[in-house]
Amino acid sequence: MAKGKSFSCFACGTTFTKWSGKCETCGEWNTISEDAGLSTGPASKSLGQKRGLNIALTDLAAQETPPPRTASQLAELDRVLGGGLVPASAILVGGDPGIGKSTLLLQAAARFARASLKTIYISGEEASTQIRMRAQRLGLANTPVQLGSETNLRDILTTLEANMPQLAIIDSMQTMWADNVDSAPGSVSQVRAVAHELTSFAKRHGVSVILVGHVTKEGQLAGPRVVEHMVDTVLYFEGERGHQFRILRAVKNRFGPTDEIGVFEMTGSGLAEVTNPSALFLSERGMPSPGSVVFAGVEGTRPVLVEFQALVAPSPHSQPRRMVVGWDGGRLAMILAVLEARVGIPFAGLDVYLNVAGGMKINEPAADLAVAAALLSAREDTAMPQNTVVFGEISLSGALRPASQAENRLKEAQKLGFTAAIAPISGKLRGERGLTLTRPTDLAGFVREVFGAG
Ligand code: TYD
Ligand code: MG
Repeated sequence: MAKGKSFSCFACGTTFTKWSGKCETCGEWNTISEDAGLSTGPASKSLGQKRGLNIALTDLAAQETPPPRTASQLAELDRVLGGGLVPASAILVGGDPGIGKSTLLLQAAARFARASLKTIYISGEEASTQIRMRAQRLGLANTPVQLGSETNLRDILTTLEANMPQLAIIDSMQTMWADNVDSAPGSVSQVRAVAHELTSFAKRHGVSVILVGHVTKEGQLAGPRVVEHMVDTVLYFEGERGHQFRILRAVKNRFGPTDEIGVFEMTGSGLAEVTNPSALFLSERGMPSPGSVVFAGVEGTRPVLVEFQALVAPSPHSQPRRMVVGWDGGRLAMILAVLEARVGIPFAGLDVYLNVAGGMKINEPAADLAVAAALLSAREDTAMPQNTVVFGEISLSGALRPASQAENRLKEAQKLGFTAAIAPISGKLRGERGLTLTRPTDLAGFVREVFGAG
């Protein structure tokens, strides 16, 4: 019997037995295509009677020293890595094309090479001369990084084995191709094969490997998500076009915390570290205006202040609009529902737009109260009190829940010149001296406190 065809989604990598327009797993449209020459049918052959090797087992209780790390001295990168580069680790750096991945990694390569790691940078996208020109522009021309320009995986592995670096950077996975896989570079099977070969090379030889992966929204390239499970660490490099700053975010890290961020600014001479992100995110803030609220957030261990902006206007549509940038749309719907059901403030017939200023993405539930404040302030056309930060989680009952690291948030607010905070904080606090603290316990109380009768 002929083997059934198989299809996979290039956004999330799920395989299907038949084609469809929408991927059931990740919900993306037009991302499913047929796999070429790869049998992905169920591997249901039994192992049979042949005996395998007996694996040596070790005690869980055995002492293990933490892995030695090499710091790049780019503090924003080291923090996200969990304190530096771990030997023999496989790291994926994903991001939109043009966001600055190659720039970041060239700068990192130079730093690691200066920290006396033998570093090889292989590009499948640019010729060595182009990379050298970029290095000159970045002021990195005199660093001992070895460059290669190649797309054939077999040749790359041979080269790496012959030169045996401590760090190899592969830019990008989608341009590389394994000659034993019968499909075009960038396809799901190719990208998986390339990532698999390189990560096993890393483990076998104790070489750290950094793989670059373009996030693809359309076209026929497999995105970085299809290999996330193979690597130790997954970092995403994010940013908005038209904004100068870039955020490096760990979404998976076997050797460190996730949810840490590194903040960079794209300048004419490469990426500059941003040591005080709050000041940067708030730099465009003008006079207090309706709909604008400063949220005292925390990303990993670092407090970050950002501005939420809301616009609420009568809707000309039968179905009012709900538009969100930088925050979760489902969470916005929830907050609107709680405002209506628990506080009696309806948003029916009103268009609602919510935006995190500067292109930052916020995932913390602690931003709930800041979002509610921005929505109310926009709806009532009343500016929030000046120099005030807001944070706290809203539950479906309308009760407010305290956020983690309250002191950390307050300290950052104080450092940036804020004089008041509104947050559901229970218990004693140290070090809130310079801030006037208002502690509402439910949303209705918050509305009364800040907007009068509401
Ligand atoms: P790049 O690192 O090539 O992006 P990626 O590898 O993620 O595709 O960055 C490309 C952009 O960065 C390009 O639009 C130009 C800009 N850039 C600067 O603004 N300053 C610089 O010093 C460099 C090297 C690039
Ligand atoms: Mg690039």
